[in-house]
Amino acid sequence: MFLFCFRTRRGSILSKLHIWFLFFVAVKAVSVNGVWPMPQKISSFVERYSVTPQTFTFQYTPGSVAQPGCSVLDAAFKRYFKLIFPDLLRQPGESYYVRPLASPFTVQVGVSEGNCDGYPSESSKESYRLSVSSGLAAVSAETVWGALRGLESLSQLVYQDDFGVYYINKTEIEDFPRFAFRGLLLDTSRHYLPLNAILETLDAMSYTKLNVFHWHIVDDPSFPYQSKFFPDLSNKGAFHPMTHVYTQGDVRRVIEHARLRGIRVVPEFDSPGHTQSWGRGQPDLLTPCYRGDVPSGTFGPVNPILSSSYQFMAKLFKEVTSVFPDSYLHLGGDEVNFNCWKSNPDVRAFMKTMGFGSDFSRLEAFYVEHMVNISTALNRTSIVWQDVFDYHEKIPKDTVLEIWKGLPPAYAQEMSHMTKAGYRVLLSAPWYINHIRYGQDWRDSYTVKPLNFSGTEEQKKLVIGGEVCMWGEYVDATNLSPRLWPRACAAAERLWSDEDQTSSADKAFPRLTDFRCRLLRRGIRAEPLFVGHCEQEFQGL
Ligand SMILES: *[C@@H]1O[C@H](CO)[C@@H](O)[C@H](O)[C@H]1NC(C)=O
Ligand SMILES: *[C@@H]1O[C@H](CO)[C@@H](O)[C@H](O)[C@H]1NC(C)=O
Ligand SMILES: *[C@@H]1O[C@H](CO)[C@@H](O)[C@H](O)[C@H]1NC(C)=O
Ligand SMILES: *[C@@H]1O[C@H](CO)[C@@H](O)[C@H](O)[C@H]1NC(C)=O
Repeated sequence: MFLFCFRTRRGSILSKLHIWFLFFVAVKAVSVNGVWPMPQKISSFVERYSVTPQTFTFQYTPGSVAQPGCSVLDAAFKRYFKLIFPDLLRQPGESYYVRPLASPFTVQVGVSEGNCDGYPSESSKESYRLSVSSGLAAVSAETVWGALRGLESLSQLVYQDDFGVYYINKTEIEDFPRFAFRGLLLDTSRHYLPLNAILETLDAMSYTKLNVFHWHIVDDPSFPYQSKFFPDLSNKGAFHPMTHVYTQGDVRRVIEHARLRGIRVVPEFDSPGHTQSWGRGQPDLLTPCYRGDVPSGTFGPVNPILSSSYQFMAKLFKEVTSVFPDSYLHLGGDEVNFNCWKSNPDVRAFMKTMGFGSDFSRLEAFYVEHMVNISTALNRTSIVWQDVFDYHEKIPKDTVLEIWKGLPPAYAQEMSHMTKAGYRVLLSAPWYINHIRYGQDWRDSYTVKPLNFSGTEEQKKLVIGGEVCMWGEYVDATNLSPRLWPRACAAAERLWSDEDQTSSADKAFPRLTDFRCRLLRRGIRAEPLFVGHCEQEFQGL
């Protein structure tokens, strides 16, 4: 970055100039008028129109398939009205500027196919066109999901001058996502996240056009999912059986909140490892570990040698797929520790019978194959972490593999191998943003090139997208938002926008600074990127 070069080259002699320069950049940044993530094609003009809440309306385009009563768009019109005019959220009694003799401004939204009652899916079309001219903004899309993306872009075009007057410039946008799967993982096992924290994250995801909420709902530390068939899982496995659980109603609320924003909800019930909390409510599920000839009283991964384990899993997943409508199901499969299996004489005997020798990864593969079969029988596409591929190349071809290990050369090689073997892949290795370091670490996320691996065009097409991961070791509702935002925005742009048009983090910086201020105005506690200010700072509660 220019400013850093400036400092390192000249040292502190120019520090005054440096500070002055930062001030200049900060002042300039708040007036940048941009959309995040960057649309595929955008033309902005200097012609601008003032808009006021009193004369600002949303309408359905005549002939649109969606008309009044469309759940997704009716709700979106209400939401975007408030997002476009955040002043209206001020305390009663505070006034905002009303421009005299304001002329009407209409947002017309038209959709050509599909309906309003379904769920977004892997094949949802999210492209849209947006044309802003005098008195009219026209959003046209194939589906309601595309219309939502168009409304979001529209909302980001509106800005206020120093007197609080709202403006929008004449603009033409033609936009579509680069990748269909643009995910964000939250971990609700290591710390319980209250429902509101999840809903707020979904809001912010829609502002950055992220479209898959990967709900890593359970893990070793706790089992907060309240199961209908197996209530003891959360009764005994949650941090608290009443206060630290997600009821069926909570889950429905998350799924509906997400649906209205065009976001899919993909649950992960990770096994056979990462299941310590499951064992508390489901006796005999986990493998008893041995010390010498006697059970040690501790337990390892799910017991892969008992048919009762698979019967339990089949029943649990039947419930899970009845609750979560998405066609994808994350089965986990990462970080299985073999020590416990090795210690158990029954497991060793089973290995012998099966002819697995002393290769415990074959036992793991046997388990995962069972799980994928269960998921397939429930008409779901399975996602598994890369470990499953690393140990077992014969998993069904329609399984999606998620890459989480390593730095650039390592994950690029993995992508190359997986796509060569014909699998679809998701990249998350460079986007473990629960890791933090001093400085602008969003730049590392931003400069990732997901398709920079050796492979044919056909292989590159198998990369369906990627995911930002927010693991919960050191994260709960106190620091979730500031750690996620604006840092997750970097990956969101990488996954949506054209790579060549957005290759420079330096160029992105003022637009991201501006977008972060917009997030604050929308109530998201997005942390600062660097020295500077927002016209309207976060007010706290
Ligand atoms: C919007 O219009 C104003 C006033 O004409 C102009 O100064 C500004 O550069 C325009 N913004 C963009 C992004 O074109
Ligand atoms: C299986 O899932 C696909 C995709 O979600 C869906 O179109 C199809 O109707 C489902 N089939 C059955 C038998 O439920
Ligand atoms: C999984 O399903 C396949 C295809 O039906 C079958 O050949 C295989 O034996 C099953 N694997 C397990 C572990 O049940
Ligand atoms: C692209 O891949 C090559 C080879 O692995 C690597 O040297 C280079 O740093 C990568 N570029 C980026 C921007 O990741």
